[in-house]
Amino acid sequence: MTSVPHKLHPTLQDMRPSATLAIQERCRVLEAEGRSVCRLGLGQSPFPVPERVVAALIAHAHEKDYLPVRGLPALRQAVAAHHRRTQGLQIEAEDVLIGPGSKELLFGLQLAYDAELILPAPSWVSYAPQARLLGRRVRWIPTDPEQGWRLQPEALAAAWPVGRGPGLLVLNSPNNPVGHSYDAEHLAAIAAVARERGLLVLSDEIYGALHHQGGHATIAAAYPEGTLISSGLSKWCGAGGWRLGTLAGPPQLRWLLDAMAVVASETYTSVSAPIQHAAVVAYTDHPDLRSYLHRSRLVLRALGGWAAGRLRGAGCRCPEPEGAFYLLCDLSPALGSAPISGARLCTSLLDELQIAVLPGSDFGLPPSDPVIRIALVDFDGAAALAAAHDGPIDEAFLRRHCGRVVEGIERLVGWLRAGG
Ligand SMILES: Cc1ncc(COP(=O)(O)O)c(C=O)c1O
Repeated sequence: MTSVPHKLHPTLQDMRPSATLAIQERCRVLEAEGRSVCRLGLGQSPFPVPERVVAALIAHAHEKDYLPVRGLPALRQAVAAHHRRTQGLQIEAEDVLIGPGSKELLFGLQLAYDAELILPAPSWVSYAPQARLLGRRVRWIPTDPEQGWRLQPEALAAAWPVGRGPGLLVLNSPNNPVGHSYDAEHLAAIAAVARERGLLVLSDEIYGALHHQGGHATIAAAYPEGTLISSGLSKWCGAGGWRLGTLAGPPQLRWLLDAMAVVASETYTSVSAPIQHAAVVAYTDHPDLRSYLHRSRLVLRALGGWAAGRLRGAGCRCPEPEGAFYLLCDLSPALGSAPISGARLCTSLLDELQIAVLPGSDFGLPPSDPVIRIALVDFDGAAALAAAHDGPIDEAFLRRHCGRVVEGIERLVGWLRAGG
């Protein structure tokens, strides 16, 4: 047999596995060596899947047939109704696509829509690598830490002059990695710029239900004809491993969902049938689910507020989170003039303090910035949710039920106070 050179496709040659998954691997190695690591790297929900959703999955375990490529009709109905009920958007079941996680749907969208990707810096780790896999260009737009790292409409307008061509803007609120959210007024200003430039907006609302005050706003309210909303079960429903994502939009963008359905039909076919049946229950309003979400938000709000306050008290720049379970923390004011990159800082924190966090550079911030993203998730979410029924969620509650996060933050604060 003639030997032929085996090589990777050029787009993959300098790519590494997703940063969040890599840190999880490193934690496993340290723990195998007997070290106690505070896992504040991977952004996985600490909360269990709500019981009635688990019961629905059990009840549908026998479902074995392939489902329609775009998703189970009852689920598409339930998702559309959920958008109408919770956001007042006119979304119909025909304009909903179900996929194996919103990450895959985002990839399918980038594949289907021929445009440059526009990202505020910082942004979630996977948008830019997906663009790179597809050979698309990425336009990063800087943001200002003093403005909570939020995309400003003027910055978007300056980065993307009218007439520049098709662009896909990804806006994520509540936000990973910052924990901030955008209010309706700010979104309307961004929408005006996007509309004038004919940009397509992908509004990543995977943390929408985890806005700490239940006050999530969507850019689709101001720019319905140009916005697709991605979401799913991974965060608010604690079901990242179930792999169910949703994409919803207006009739004007149905052609794009049609194209994505073609890609789906030739790749993953459809999401697992039992999971889709269970998801119908997750998207159907019920007092148990409202209580679950209410308690999740209370715990996350108290924990985020406490942690940000402690870090600010130690001299860091760290905005109060408004949603999700993340903090972005700039250590430069606390560290003074000693220059240290985010990546080196993370290695030191893991080796010296056994705290796993991610550098801001994984999210598109300059590598030289000593900025870290902290995922406030290393605690027993089931116990915390159960206890949240009973009493105030104060510092004593957090010490009792979110102990490993509290310990991680205190180790970091102690280290900063001792001079870093
Ligand atoms: C901002 C953001 N978008 C999308 C995703 C992908 O979620 P999934 O593919 O589980 O739906 C994540 C997961 O961490 C995320 O943080």
